[in-house]
Amino acid sequence: MEDIKKVGVVGAGIMGSGIAINFALWGYPTMLCDVSENVLEQSLKKIALDLDIFVQEGLVTRQQVAAALARITTTTELAAVAKSSDFITEAITEKVEDKQELFNELDRQCPAHTIIASNTSYLLLSEFGAAVERQDKITITHYFVPAHIIPGVEVGRGPGTSEETVNITCDLMKKIKKVPIRVLKESSGCLVNSIQAALRRESLRLWAEGVATAEDIDLGVRATFGFRLPLDGPLTHYDLSGVWRWPEDVRIAWADKQFDSEKYGLGEAVAEKIKRRVAKGVPWIIDPEQLEEVKSKIEREYIHCLKKWYWSKE
Ligand SMILES: NC(=O)c1ccc[n+]([C@@H]2O[C@H](COP(=O)([O-])OP(=O)(O)OC[C@H]3O[C@@H](n4cnc5c(N)ncnc54)[C@H](O)[C@@H]3O)[C@@H](O)[C@H]2O)c1
Repeated sequence: MEDIKKVGVVGAGIMGSGIAINFALWGYPTMLCDVSENVLEQSLKKIALDLDIFVQEGLVTRQQVAAALARITTTTELAAVAKSSDFITEAITEKVEDKQELFNELDRQCPAHTIIASNTSYLLLSEFGAAVERQDKITITHYFVPAHIIPGVEVGRGPGTSEETVNITCDLMKKIKKVPIRVLKESSGCLVNSIQAALRRESLRLWAEGVATAEDIDLGVRATFGFRLPLDGPLTHYDLSGVWRWPEDVRIAWADKQFDSEKYGLGEAVAEKIKRRVAKGVPWIIDPEQLEEVKSKIEREYIHCLKKWYWSKE
C-alpha cells in the first residue's frame, strides 16, 4: 500500500473525471490521460465545477480544493501516465477491443509493480485482459455515477487476480474515502448492476402490464423499501423482518414461491441452493442476540429520515 504514491486515470469522460477527483482530493498526484487536449480541458473544467459544489455544500474547504486541483496533471501521451503511475484506472469507452488494446499497451509500458484497474460496467477481465502478462495485478474498480459522490466501488477480479491486489485496491479505496465492495467471482455487471437490472426489469414489466403508472412505480420504490435502503440492504432486511424465525413449513412454502426457478429464470441449482439456506432458519448477517438492538437503532435512523424527507413538508 505504501507503494502507491501516484495514480493515473485513462479516459477523462464522465467517469474518469469523477474518479480523478477522488484520488486528487485525498492526496494522490493524479495524471489524467485522454486522446485530445480539448477533452482534457473540458474534464478539468468539470472537475473544478464539481469541487466548487463540494465547497458550497461545506464538504471540503477552498484550500483542499486548491490542493486537489494542483495534484492533477494531464497528458495525451499514454507513455507518460504508464511510466509514472503505481495504480492506473482505465475509464475509456466501453468497447472490448479498445480496452484490450489499452490493457496490453499499459502492461508493456507500466513498471512491473503497477496495478491496472478497469471501470468497466459489463466487460470481463478474462476477455479484454486475457493477453496481459501481469494477470495477478489486473482488477476491476467499478465506480457509480456521479463517481466523485457515490461512496461504493465494486472491486472485482479476473481469473488470475491475486488476493494481494484485491486487498491493496480495497485499502486504496478506503484511503480515498470510498466503500469497497468485494466481488468474489468474475461476473458481467459485477453485482450491483445485476441487482439494479432486476429492479428495472420488474418496474418496466409492471408498467407494461398496466399495473401502475411510471410515477407510482417510482414512488412505490422510493417511499417504501427505497426509504429503508440506506440503512438495510435486502439481506439485512430479511434478517430484520424475521422470515428466518417463521415456522419451517411456512418458510419453505414462502421460499418455493419466491425462488421459483422457472418463473424467475434462476436455474435449478441456484434456486435449490437458496432454498436450502432459507430452510436452515438462520439470519444472513445479523447476530440473533443483537437483533433487537440493531432493529431499534435502525428504526431511530428511519425516524430521522422521516422527519427530514416527509414530515417536514407538511
Ligand atoms: N457513465 C456511467 O454511468 C458509467 C458507470 C459505471 C461505469 N462506466 C464505465 O466507465 C467507462 C467510461 O465511461 P464514461 O461514461 O466515462 O464514458 P465517456 O464516453 O464519458 O468517456 C470515455 C473517455 O475515454 C476516452 N478514450 C477513449 N479511448 C481512449 C484511449 N484509448 N485512451 C485514452 N482515452 C480514451 C474518450 O475520449 C472519452 O473522453 C466505460 O467502461 C463505462 O462502461 C460508466
